Amino acid sequence: MQLLVNIDHVATLRNARGEGYPDPVEAAEICENAGAAGVVFHLRGDRRHIRDDDVYRLKKSVQGILDFEMAATDEMITICREIEPELCTLVPEGREELTTEGGLNMKTVFEDYKNRVFPAFKDTDIKLSLFLDPNPTDIELAHELGTHAIELHTGTFANAPDEESRQKELDRLKKGAELIHDAGMIVNAGHGLNLDNLPILIREVPHLHDISIGHALISKALYLGLEKTVKEYIRIMNA
Ligand code: PXP
Repeated sequence: MQLLVNIDHVATLRNARGEGYPDPVEAAEICENAGAAGVVFHLRGDRRHIRDDDVYRLKKSVQGILDFEMAATDEMITICREIEPELCTLVPEGREELTTEGGLNMKTVFEDYKNRVFPAFKDTDIKLSLFLDPNPTDIELAHELGTHAIELHTGTFANAPDEESRQKELDRLKKGAELIHDAGMIVNAGHGLNLDNLPILIREVPHLHDISIGHALISKALYLGLEKTVKEYIRIMNA
């Protein structure tokens, strides 16, 4: 199991003042030096946080895993092919959303992914990961497409209003992880994870590989510092 830090919020803070700092590339370096296996960035169509220039600089500076999170538009596919990250996580993207609001609906995107998206990556070494809710049907369709990994959406678990619904979602995540693993795919997870709910997820859900964390980690770093915060997350993951 390894930590990938989502650095989008560093760019959000930078953009709030139109200054050159804080720099997401510098933040990525601190995260890696503190032991993170790599970083995630989401280049959105509206460029609200990470910008094209950040992506090219990250490509040059990140030593570990670079996970390019994006919507599967032709524009993003072209940039991603040029950057050649180790991993590309495909997500749904809505203009009005504050953050990614759920996994891909595989029934809706299947034909497009089969005919346009997956073929566009065929001649590259980029590994594809699909961001999905833990629905068996979505997972089976993703497998049919030949995806390398599935990132399980943990937001419903993280934001569960009570213990019963949290346990129900944990059971779904557990079954989903088993299904993904048994089908020979890599199990990643992310969304809404923090120092309190991460130990519960890790205890209950098997086969976890990359854990992608942004908002809570960057927020905590305001008080604790980025290096210490990354180390604290890694300590929990190794405990
Ligand atoms: N994984 C995906 C696919 C995401 O869209 C996000 C949010 O950008 C994350 C993980 C990280 O979520 P959070 O910021 O809540 O830790």
